[in-house]
Amino acid sequence: MAKRAYPLSKVYGLLETGPVILLTTGDGQRANVMTLSWHSMLEFEPPLVACVVSDRCHSFGLLQASGECVINIPTVEIAKQVVGCGNCSGAKTDKFKKFGLSTKPARTVAPPLIEACYASLEARVIDTRMVESYALFVVEVQKAWVDSSLKDPRTLHHRGYGRFMVAGETIKLPSKMR
Ligand SMILES: Cc1cc2nc3c(=O)[nH]c(=O)nc-3n(C[C@H](O)[C@H](O)[C@H](O)COP(=O)(O)O)c2cc1C
Repeated sequence: MAKRAYPLSKVYGLLETGPVILLTTGDGQRANVMTLSWHSMLEFEPPLVACVVSDRCHSFGLLQASGECVINIPTVEIAKQVVGCGNCSGAKTDKFKKFGLSTKPARTVAPPLIEACYASLEARVIDTRMVESYALFVVEVQKAWVDSSLKDPRTLHHRGYGRFMVAGETIKLPSKMR
């Protein structure tokens, strides 16, 4: 994926349609990745995004401790890896290795970009007031990278119980998520 810098004013359009994302977290020593579909745009610019990260996830502690993450937007080509990252915990597993996801350093935050994703948004936590009540972190996108050569990225849209809509079509994968 030949990602290039992308204007922050256009970032909302990448997320408004609600693609399943791969959220990377970490402190520079160790990184983790989880699948996440419960997110929402809150503001155009700077782009603000609300992400629900359950406190049962290993990623929760990493996100809380560092206050940084990268929202990576995958396409259907890596659908199985996306679901795999949502079906196991990074507490004992290096999911990047397990699912063959290569990474590269971000510019503004410690967690890495996932190379196979067509877009990666570097973000910082700016509001934790609803973490206790809803596990909801508000993050601000600092830097956005997009491979604009993909005209119609075939993103995944979670429809529940392992079913995904792919740019208009639905696929079935062995997901544990209801
Ligand atoms: C399609 C899909 C969507 C998911 N969406 C979310 C979500 O929005 N929030 C969440 O906390 N967990 C979500 N999960 C579950 C986590 O990805 C899962 O608990 C994962 O094992 C957490 O990884 P970790 O323990 O390494 O952080 C989703 C899983 C799948 C398969």
